Amino acid sequence: MHPAATRSSADTISLFQQHVIPNYVRYPISLVHGEGSSVWDAEGKKYLDLFPGWGCGILGHCPPRVVKALQEQVAHLIHIPNTWYTEAQGRFAEALCSRSFGQAFFCNSGAEANEAAFKLARVWGAPQGKFKIITFSNSFHGRTYATVTATAQPKYHEGIGPLMPGFEYAPLNDLEAAKRLVDKETVALMLEPVQGEGGINLPNEGYLASLRKIADDAGALLIFDEVQTCMGRTGTWFGYQQWGVQPDIFTMAKGLAGGVACGAMIAKTEIAAMLKPGKHASTFGGNPLAMAAGLATVETIEQDHLLENVKVMSARFREHFTKLQQEIPIIRELRIRGMMIGLDLTITGTPAVARCMERGVLINCTHDTVIRLLPALNITAEQVDEGARVVCEVLREMAAAQ
Ligand SMILES: Cc1ncc(COP(=O)(O)O)c(C=O)c1O
Repeated sequence: MHPAATRSSADTISLFQQHVIPNYVRYPISLVHGEGSSVWDAEGKKYLDLFPGWGCGILGHCPPRVVKALQEQVAHLIHIPNTWYTEAQGRFAEALCSRSFGQAFFCNSGAEANEAAFKLARVWGAPQGKFKIITFSNSFHGRTYATVTATAQPKYHEGIGPLMPGFEYAPLNDLEAAKRLVDKETVALMLEPVQGEGGINLPNEGYLASLRKIADDAGALLIFDEVQTCMGRTGTWFGYQQWGVQPDIFTMAKGLAGGVACGAMIAKTEIAAMLKPGKHASTFGGNPLAMAAGLATVETIEQDHLLENVKVMSARFREHFTKLQQEIPIIRELRIRGMMIGLDLTITGTPAVARCMERGVLINCTHDTVIRLLPALNITAEQVDEGARVVCEVLREMAAAQ
């Protein structure tokens, strides 16, 4: 038994079976402790986590500066509503906006950040009769009604209709299709700079810049959902900086506060000004704990030169997986941007997750065929080599069984 555990994995699973709504597929271990890219289960088995917190663990598990900042903050103020000012919120907003632009609104999750963006866009567009929002095939924007409607994947819409009105879908990387959809009622085009859940899908060269122009020509806004691409994930602070295309609004969550629940929307100041008091709010949004954790996350990325590390470790992963792709025929495409890594297989990739787990490595499979890794920005060369070794071993075995 791990010292942090008070019961076995089996006992915890039994609690879940009785008391937790079974709306997730879960692997049969209970995790009790983490440090960086390592995590331990109740029985004391150690895993190398190449998918910490579904992308929320941008610095891995329990990053020391974040832990310390939380410990210090929790002794002073746990929650202060937005009827008062707090230093932490002001300082975190400054840290984010000075690395991007505009002003920040804080909330608690990616879906909430995207809801804020839709609402702000519609408030901004209402005087001109604009309300339609265009999103893109294989996108993922969340599970609330507006964000699941924006998520252009039919499987997420099944059985929950009617959906929200005012959303239209364009195929990703098809400029003409996007142009055809835009009309005088279009208020915004919204997309992830790199699609995450949809399979680590990259924009074609020049695509984001062309969408920027389409939005400008139509008098519409360009919104980037940076819930998965924010905070250095792609190798720059924000994904849009990879392509030098500035959106009017962007949203963040996941790694934003080093694993603590936190969401944010950043909007150009003149657009943000439309969100007058009373128009939008979030009780827990911008709470001192999340803000302190966010500041410590920014400090860690900066002081530990993690954007540099992302570039080096990304190239190292690429080298391993390029060799593998030359060796086995089941890798259709490698799609890598910083610490967003996708291996698109010609076969279903789901069995690879359990097989890697058995060998002590945690990964993800999305969209049925895409092995997805979202490693921590501070992963070491040894961890990259070890993780890639296990993933390659499992994929070689799966290829041999074809
Ligand atoms: C790009 C993107 N947007 C939005 C969301 C929804 O975020 P949350 O689950 O925090 O609501 C996700 C979650 O995976 C995401 O990847």
